[in-house]
Amino acid sequence: MQELWSAVDHWLDATVVQPGPAFREAEEASARAGLPPIQVTATQGKLLHLLARLCGARKILEIGTLGGYSTLWLATALPEDGRLVTLELDPAHAEVARANLARGGVASRVELRVGPALELLPRLAEEGAGPFDLIFIDADKAEYPGYLHGSLALSRPGTLLIGDNVVRNGAVLEAGSADPRVAGARSFHAQVGADPRLSATVIQTVGSKGYDGLTVALVVGDGAR
Ligand code: SAH
Ligand code: DHB
Ligand code: MG
Repeated sequence: MQELWSAVDHWLDATVVQPGPAFREAEEASARAGLPPIQVTATQGKLLHLLARLCGARKILEIGTLGGYSTLWLATALPEDGRLVTLELDPAHAEVARANLARGGVASRVELRVGPALELLPRLAEEGAGPFDLIFIDADKAEYPGYLHGSLALSRPGTLLIGDNVVRNGAVLEAGSADPRVAGARSFHAQVGADPRLSATVIQTVGSKGYDGLTVALVVGDGAR
């Protein structure tokens, strides 16, 4: 099925999404720099963009920048005076992202912080950087439970939390998995499902990146699920 999913994805890109040149340039520059090709697809990036616009986001937090491809989709949804903070562990990835974001014309709206997200999140909270209107979780899959905890501390009722790669080709069903990324996704789902502050669903996705899924969770007041 992978061949078909990819063909449909490419057709949808050309027919519906029609990403501008900055998006293709970012993908090409990331590939030239040797970054792994694990950014969201254009159809997924456009979904992030639309969700940001739907919630009128003025402050966005992204956990896991890579080459800034998803960052571009999210930052272009912001108003001129909007802000996006994106967290990245790897300085080489951050360097590629900075160039891509500058080429895309969004550098002035984006603050890229380099370091382990589990350390940077509480620092943002201490600085009073929150609450964010939308938070996109897409860094180290094993750490998703910690990212959720850190994100909630930077949220308010109405904040939209989105988690990438939460279905993992169906491996999310494997309770005894030795893969820490699967264990991370399972704990993340369990936490999301058990937290009275969250009203959530998961969108299963197929496309050029295979079979995976996105968690969409709205922070609500207690008992308003
Ligand atoms: N959001 C990007 C893809 C991110 S890939 C896009 O869709 O375009 C995951 C990224 O998280 C990688 O760049 C990786 O270096 C980074 N990462 C891994 N562990 C991390 C950590 N502990 N803290 C912050 N970033 C991390
Ligand atoms: C990986 C990370 C991602 O964010 C993704 O969308 C796909 C794969 C990875 O670390 O392998
Ligand atoms: Mg991802």
